Amino acid sequence: PAQIASVLESAIEFKSAFRAVSQALPESSRKQLASGDSPIVQSLKNKSIAIMFSKRSTRTRVASETSVASLGGTGLFLAPSDIQLGVNESLYDTAKVVSSMVDGMMARVGGHDEVELLSKHSTVPVINALSARYHPTQILADLQTMLEIYAPASLPTDLSSLAGLKVAWVGDSNNILNDMLVAYPRLGIHLSVATPKGPAYQRDDLVWGTMQDGLSALSKSGSSPVALGQVSWSNDPAEAVKDADIIVTDTWISMGDEAQKEQRLRDFAGFQVTEQMAKQGGAKPDWKFMHCLPRKGDEVDDEVFYSDRSVVFPEAENRKWTIMSLFDRMFGRWEL
Ligand code: CP
Ligand code: NVA
Repeated sequence: PAQIASVLESAIEFKSAFRAVSQALPESSRKQLASGDSPIVQSLKNKSIAIMFSKRSTRTRVASETSVASLGGTGLFLAPSDIQLGVNESLYDTAKVVSSMVDGMMARVGGHDEVELLSKHSTVPVINALSARYHPTQILADLQTMLEIYAPASLPTDLSSLAGLKVAWVGDSNNILNDMLVAYPRLGIHLSVATPKGPAYQRDDLVWGTMQDGLSALSKSGSSPVALGQVSWSNDPAEAVKDADIIVTDTWISMGDEAQKEQRLRDFAGFQVTEQMAKQGGAKPDWKFMHCLPRKGDEVDDEVFYSDRSVVFPEAENRKWTIMSLFDRMFGRWEL
């Protein structure tokens, strides 16, 4: 929790510093441009960051490339068609070679073992830009968005203001849910999960163990300023959304699951997030809607997705400020 709070604190500061510049009077903007001053410390000056993605991306890629540029560094976007990433050369060799030439790596991979292997054999920090098991930078953006809704005046960042919220996940047992599981209960946020029945939608035991280990370590240390969050899991969306402050979902067909599309569309019958579903299930009247994007049409209807409840676009923008904060700390200053 302390590391998350500190990353979020800089993310919020970056956002407001950039806003201040973009909203500045033309006169002062001109002066600032003429003097070459930047409100942002150029912590990546003369540094190069490898942004190695083996899967598609809009938000994570744009956030990563623009963050490196804003911090004064050079980003190299490397797709599988550009380099030998795990195709013609082992990941071990790639980690050794690329890390000998750059100051950090942002890696979007298939299996989670791939990013672990890169990290183990790299001499520079490696950030997970999404693996089949986890998507940690997404959850940082989601937490920043939640702070903006529920504690807009809280700086320095007081994560305890999120304790007691109830987040309902109605969707797949996937990488986004897994990061919510390991992060939210430690921050005192309750999580109620509904996934379809069937072996493909069970909890990931390794993630579950990580969540429990994290909670018991916090409990034993007695260092948590808040009561730890409760987690419940069912196959019933109505049960999950009861008393929810926030309803979250994601695509039913993650990257890599495309071959199972027809089966999945059948399995997720009744899981679309709609006003009616939330009302019948008894979500709080002012519930908010979140989604990491990209959105397909199936998991949420337009009425909810484009409503005032929906914070999906600020949530997407916050990918940039949280990734900038991580790059500044991990690649620019080597501290977290
Ligand atoms: N949310 C997210 O990671 O989006 P991209 O796949 O477009 O990066
Ligand atoms: N669960 C989705 C997240 C995309 C950002 C996927 O892995 O494709």
